[in-house]
Amino acid sequence: MTADKIKSIGIIGAGTMGSGIASAAAISGYRSVIFDISPDALVRSKEGIVKGYGRLVEKGKLDIAQKDSAVNLVLPSSDFDSLSECDIIIEAAIENLDLKKDVYRRLDEMTRHDTILATNTSSFSITAISSAVKNNSGRVIGMHFFNPASIMKLVEVIKGEFTSDETVYTVIELCKKLGKVPVVCNDTPAFIVNRVARAFYGESLKIMDEEQADPLLIDTIMKEEGGFAMGPFELMDLIGIDVNLSVTKSVYEAFFYDQKYKPSPIQQKMVDAGLLGRKTKQGFYKY
Ligand SMILES: NC(=O)c1ccc[n+]([C@@H]2O[C@H](COP(=O)([O-])OP(=O)(O)OC[C@H]3O[C@@H](n4cnc5c(N)ncnc54)[C@H](O)[C@@H]3O)[C@@H](O)[C@H]2O)c1
Repeated sequence: MTADKIKSIGIIGAGTMGSGIASAAAISGYRSVIFDISPDALVRSKEGIVKGYGRLVEKGKLDIAQKDSAVNLVLPSSDFDSLSECDIIIEAAIENLDLKKDVYRRLDEMTRHDTILATNTSSFSITAISSAVKNNSGRVIGMHFFNPASIMKLVEVIKGEFTSDETVYTVIELCKKLGKVPVVCNDTPAFIVNRVARAFYGESLKIMDEEQADPLLIDTIMKEEGGFAMGPFELMDLIGIDVNLSVTKSVYEAFFYDQKYKPSPIQQKMVDAGLLGRKTKQGFYKY
């Protein structure tokens, strides 16, 4: 599969990331089939994408015709089989390895053997995910977008043990066509950015736990004096406390329980309480 041949992009998971990826793909002219097991998530996703395009029109960054054509290219679907004709499928379902492997097993059965199978996993091994694919595992690759995926330029392109050079090349070219900046990474736990970010969140949570400073103070000094665009607590609220905890748990496990990656009980308590950040209107802050 070459990048020029890619006309339609399948996306699995219509949550924060799947919606952002679909938005970026449709605005770049790709037919974007977005599948989710939750009909509500599909409705929310399309509404959010349309709203996002509307804001771009208001700012003068998009005209009405461009908006309408992008909106028509976003095709929500509750039917897994509707992904079968896509040229590349980007999986952005929840961060659960067994679930991802199961999705890949199903994709392996129903896709052409040259369809690229990309995963937006934040932390799992691409090689482990590709073990579910028996037909041409060279087509399995990591494509790690950043939140919000419609805006953030960086995409970590992760080469698993079996990923072919052809797949890497095609995905790099596709990222460029989507207006993104691809960076090729090795298949190590959490790749580059999320690994560095573990300490950003983990130490901030420890400082909070020790009552040295509260989230507002930490976020404020990191932004105003540290020059960061967002503080750690604002960022965890944006990512989703549940998503961030799953990533921390998987990195901790992948590094054989190295204490420096140990999750914080604060994260678990918030997940148990359903305080997941912006998406539930309350996390470290209220929205
Ligand atoms: N949130 C972030 O900032 C961020 C950034 C980069 C990568 N990621 C990764 O992207 C993936 C998705 O994260 P998210 O934040 O969008 O999560 P989310 O919770 O917002 O959305 C996940 C979606 O997956 C759906 N889903 C669950 N099981 C499914 C299945 N079997 N088939 C299809 N859909 C299914 C859910 O209904 C939900 O709509 C995760 O692997 C995460 O680690 C997240």
